[in-house]
Amino acid sequence: MKSFGILSFLAASVASAYAATGTLTFAGVNIAGFDFGMDTSGDDTASSAYPPLTQYYGADGAGQMTHFVNDDGYNIFRLPVAWQYLTNNEATGTLNQTNFAEYDALVQACLETGASCIIDIHNYARFNGEIIGQGGPTNEVFADLWSSIATYYADESKIVFGVMNEPHDLPSITTWAGTVQAAVTAIRNAGATSQYILLPGDNYTSAETFVSGGSAAALATVTNPDGSITGLIMDVHKYLDSDNSGTNAECVTNNIDDAWEPLATWLRANNRQALNTETGGGDVTSCNTYMCEQIAYQAQNSDVILGYVGWAAGNFATTYVLSETPTDTDGTWTDTSLVAACMAPSINGYVA
Ligand SMILES: *[C@@H]1O[C@H](CO)[C@@H](O)[C@H](O)[C@H]1NC(C)=O
Ligand SMILES: *[C@@H]1O[C@H](CO)[C@@H](O)[C@H](O)[C@H]1NC(C)=O
Repeated sequence: MKSFGILSFLAASVASAYAATGTLTFAGVNIAGFDFGMDTSGDDTASSAYPPLTQYYGADGAGQMTHFVNDDGYNIFRLPVAWQYLTNNEATGTLNQTNFAEYDALVQACLETGASCIIDIHNYARFNGEIIGQGGPTNEVFADLWSSIATYYADESKIVFGVMNEPHDLPSITTWAGTVQAAVTAIRNAGATSQYILLPGDNYTSAETFVSGGSAAALATVTNPDGSITGLIMDVHKYLDSDNSGTNAECVTNNIDDAWEPLATWLRANNRQALNTETGGGDVTSCNTYMCEQIAYQAQNSDVILGYVGWAAGNFATTYVLSETPTDTDGTWTDTSLVAACMAPSINGYVA
């Protein structure tokens, strides 16, 4: 039995570079607002952004994040922003300093909580209807945008670079992988050499079709300038409603058989890891059941699934169907029922 154990250990070592500890690296919440106005065609104007900060007449995103960390044990936030906002509607990589300063205020509020902070360019692989590197802005322009951002945050170890939110209907996933490569190279060459970078696939970064749709194979070719894959994490989304749209309150699946199991198998076989940067459901009992099951499965596979980030708080009203926006009553924050039931790490116990 002893030698069998050693063989099993060796087999496991070959199969995966990581160990499943049952403890997730990350649990977080999207703090939305700077992306407001963006649609899935990448159409947007800078003026439609709604900063989730009280000094810019939005919700108290800073207070929300402080609550989520101190009361709930969360340790990562995703901060969606429109490319058009960062450059004040120009399809360039040059940041508009006025607009960027407002976005940076949210990033700094996140960093001040001690959490990790994902910069999420929320453009669906597009700029005003045209696909980056496939008819729209060139890879060079997109790389320039990331170079500008990464230069600014190069010394911040807790910044995570989310290359792009939810690419979809891409004519070529291999061409898209080249666009992602251009962004990765730009980020690393800007001096951000150690931070995580999130690599997004097609079909709205669907966890379910990440392998079957060809995104896994295409993105597996993306490397750091030194040829390594250190810190390059697959970015996947999955909702629990009937059409995976995240627009319905009711949950109908825990996604294990269709999405997380095949994804975890591929990640393990290829020595890769993924982060689930959008998931969520309504404040209904079906979501309490299925979301708790999904998160438990992710924790069982913590060697390859780093964690989850719920959609969404920030400037969403508490009446929004997937709202995770907590209510502040004289400094006492109350979470939505799904957060309180199983998404908060202090409740589920899956984050150290
Ligand atoms: C930056 O954006 C603001 C709008 O927020 C605009 O008024 C200003 O002209 C822009 N600056 C430059 C240099 O384009
Ligand atoms: C996209 O993913 C969904 C499930 O997440 C699936 O139902 C659909 O068929 C996929 N579409 C494509 C084009 O792969």
